[in-house]
Amino acid sequence: MSLLVIHGGAGRLRSEERQAAIAAALSSISKTAWPTLERAGARAAVVHAVQLLEDNPLFNAGLGSKLQVDGAARLSASLCDGTRQRFSGVVNVEGLANPILLCRQLLEEKDRVLAGEGALQRAQELGLRTADMRTEEAIATWKRGVEGQTGTVGAVAVDSAGQVAAASSTGGRGLERKGRVSDSCTVAGNYANRTSAITTTGVGEDIIDGALAVRLAESSRRGEDLGLAADKLIEEMVSREWMAGFIGLDTQGSWVARHTTEALYWWVRGEHTDRGFWNANGSTG
Ligand code: GLY
Repeated sequence: MSLLVIHGGAGRLRSEERQAAIAAALSSISKTAWPTLERAGARAAVVHAVQLLEDNPLFNAGLGSKLQVDGAARLSASLCDGTRQRFSGVVNVEGLANPILLCRQLLEEKDRVLAGEGALQRAQELGLRTADMRTEEAIATWKRGVEGQTGTVGAVAVDSAGQVAAASSTGGRGLERKGRVSDSCTVAGNYANRTSAITTTGVGEDIIDGALAVRLAESSRRGEDLGLAADKLIEEMVSREWMAGFIGLDTQGSWVARHTTEALYWWVRGEHTDRGFWNANGSTG
């Protein structure tokens, strides 16, 4: 049984026009990445989905990323192969079009989490595409001095061989100081083990305080029902006033989408499922 869940960020509920544009993009991206899941498996599918999310300026990742306090777009991403129990990440890289493609390569290397100039240098050695990732909209938002309304993209997948993977990519929280590290390139924000894959979005500091992705995946690995474990985690997140959301799935075919923010933009695609929401929690069924 194959399943792909993707998200386009947690945060504020956007205008109806923007919600429709996000829904159309998530539907189309999940549809485009689906054949990759069937042909090449979970890891390839989450990379493909996140690459498409990075390429779409509607989302805070890749093109369209939020800007840091000095006006630079510094991008972070990670990839976790649950079956191989292997993680790779890119931290605060400038001028790289698709950080998730660098994560894909780093997963096979000895030095698997690279930051800043070193990450860009490795990307250039590999011939990955470089570009200025600042859009006019992101520059205007930065000039107004606001953090932006939603953040981070992600994807989780399970394939017909029961392999799971998680991928995440972000422009960060917006207006952060240079050197601040996002959750999206850590196991707090993006994690998979042999039974489940979880990826998060929201305020990185809250996600790191809660170690959200790794905790939920490990609850599931210990045999706890994914939906019940997600509900428990949300209760704690509400009581701690952590502003975040997550999507996840397991090898049994259960999936979850939960958030404490006003909205989480997500889409689930399976053999018999094809739907998305932006201001509602969701679970299998
Ligand atoms: N979740 C994105 C960030 O806070 O960096």
